[in-house]
Amino acid sequence: MDIVAPAVSDYLLENCSPADDLLRELAEETRAKLPDAAMMQISHDEGEFLTMITRLMGARRVVEVGVFTGYSSICIARGMPADGHLLACDVSEEWTAIARGYWERAGLTDRIELRVGPALETLRALPVDPVLDMAFIDADKVGYPDYYAELVPRLRPGGLIVLDNVLRGGRVLNPDPDSAADVTINRLNKFIVEDERVESVMLPVRDGVTLARKR
Ligand SMILES: C[S@@+](CC[C@H](N)C(=O)[O-])C[C@H]1O[C@@H](n2cnc3c(N)ncnc32)[C@H](O)[C@@H]1O
Repeated sequence: MDIVAPAVSDYLLENCSPADDLLRELAEETRAKLPDAAMMQISHDEGEFLTMITRLMGARRVVEVGVFTGYSSICIARGMPADGHLLACDVSEEWTAIARGYWERAGLTDRIELRVGPALETLRALPVDPVLDMAFIDADKVGYPDYYAELVPRLRPGGLIVLDNVLRGGRVLNPDPDSAADVTINRLNKFIVEDERVESVMLPVRDGVTLARKR
């Protein structure tokens, strides 16, 4: 299912601040080196959305779950002040090696700390202090409920969790019981609406983005 009509989708991309040369190169290198995985990368309008929301939040302490080759990390880090800290979690040494090269070239290595390993272990090892301004979840879909559960208590009041792919190509409307990812995301979507700790809105940005703001 197209969440947004393809022509509108193209129009949205054409009518946001354009990607700079570095982001364009990262997208091209990801497609060239990892053709089968490149579709995991966020689109540029979603990247601009992340930069904008990070800046609007004044976010200085952010966690990202799901780095891949680093596109979203760059977009988030660019929205943070120079003394901001982005903890970037991923399991892949191979994919994050590409990310590290681009963070370096973007002049963002001071702001981004990479943790390679299962994100749940990384999150559970963080102090349970409500200090995070923002988190972005874009990793394995069956892990989302656990990431959400670990992140909400660590958000400051007014802090924000951004969850990607919450529409699963429209499949959440009628999830196939055999798809653990679709079933999990559908359940989590319903859980978040009922979760009194947050107020939330789901946006048709690309594959669906939820903003859950801690009360
Ligand atoms: C959709 S991609 C992230 C795309 C990225 N946000 C971007 O802008 O390019 C999902 C990432 O989650 C990572 N991942 C999968 N399972 C994970 C886990 N258990 N812990 C941490 N990262 C995981 C994968 O290695 C992959 O890089």
